Amino acid sequence: MSQRVLTGIKPTGSPHVGNLFGAIRPALRLADEGLEAMYFIADYHALTTIQDPPLLAKLTREVAATWLAMGLDPERVLFYRQSDVPEIFELAWVLACFTSKGWMNKAHAYKAAVVTNQLAGEADVDAGINLGMYGYPVLMAADILAFDIDLVPVGKDQVQHIEIARDIAQRVNHVCHAEVLRLPRAKLDDNAAIVPGLDGRKMSKSYDNTIPLFAPPARLKKVIARIVTDASAPDAPKDPETSTIFQIYKAVASPEEVQDLDARFRAGIGWGDAKRILFERLDAELAVARTRYDALMADPARIDALLALGAARARVTARRVLDRVRAAIGIGH
Ligand code: TRP
Repeated sequence: MSQRVLTGIKPTGSPHVGNLFGAIRPALRLADEGLEAMYFIADYHALTTIQDPPLLAKLTREVAATWLAMGLDPERVLFYRQSDVPEIFELAWVLACFTSKGWMNKAHAYKAAVVTNQLAGEADVDAGINLGMYGYPVLMAADILAFDIDLVPVGKDQVQHIEIARDIAQRVNHVCHAEVLRLPRAKLDDNAAIVPGLDGRKMSKSYDNTIPLFAPPARLKKVIARIVTDASAPDAPKDPETSTIFQIYKAVASPEEVQDLDARFRAGIGWGDAKRILFERLDAELAVARTRYDALMADPARIDALLALGAARARVTARRVLDRVRAAIGIGH
């Protein structure tokens, strides 16, 4: 039987160029390798931080349209909204009852929030932390365990969460003396590129240094013009390895194109020219997807219909797993 992979996309920001090369492309490639793939929008995870109803709705739609526009084929990849699969939330409660509170105290995201409070001199170290945020890893475990998943492609920051999911599954299996839940493994993606943002740090919404994926060309050009460069003269030789422009170009261009630009950098190229080359290459790469994206965003009913279809299929598997869990733990029988 082919391995089943699943990953969740949290709709907490408008999709940017870093997401494309760091997450979307690698995930779509994985689905092309014949694995059984399930990719979903973790909208109820986003609710732990985004409590602005129109914004959450907008981001969810943007993320869905982005993955579809970039080539996700909903016939081959199960694509759905987490919130459309109620079995996940029933399972999350069951899992919560098998989760030590101490494990949650040690989860990175919660620990980081506590440290932030301490540094800010807050009397209450739990200030601003809701229970959803605290229990985030339990819901994430349910996302995974509800579908008998083998592999979870994630970035380094999520590995601890997958380990928690394994621990919870093992606890359930141990208590029930049976293989009730399949143990998942994290899969760190070696193809995922880390793309720098406008200021040279990793491109990330939290640094406010992103290049939007589907901005109209004129806006894309303006954003690229904001990439920070040094004051060296236009004809001075430049080191491609330390150039943000070059590093972004590397993520999008072919090896031959990269070699060409490398030579031009070493011979001396003006920053304006380098930015124009990057703009033209990115624009060419995104033009077709942008048209598809705009069409999808203009037709939200189509996005909703595709997601609903995915959820209906996902629920069949989740129901089977949940029935197995309920029988094993002594509920409803
Ligand atoms: N926590 C993940 C992130 O922040 C998103 C996510 C939610 C996820 N549920 C998941 C990832 C299940 C993998 C599997 O990026």
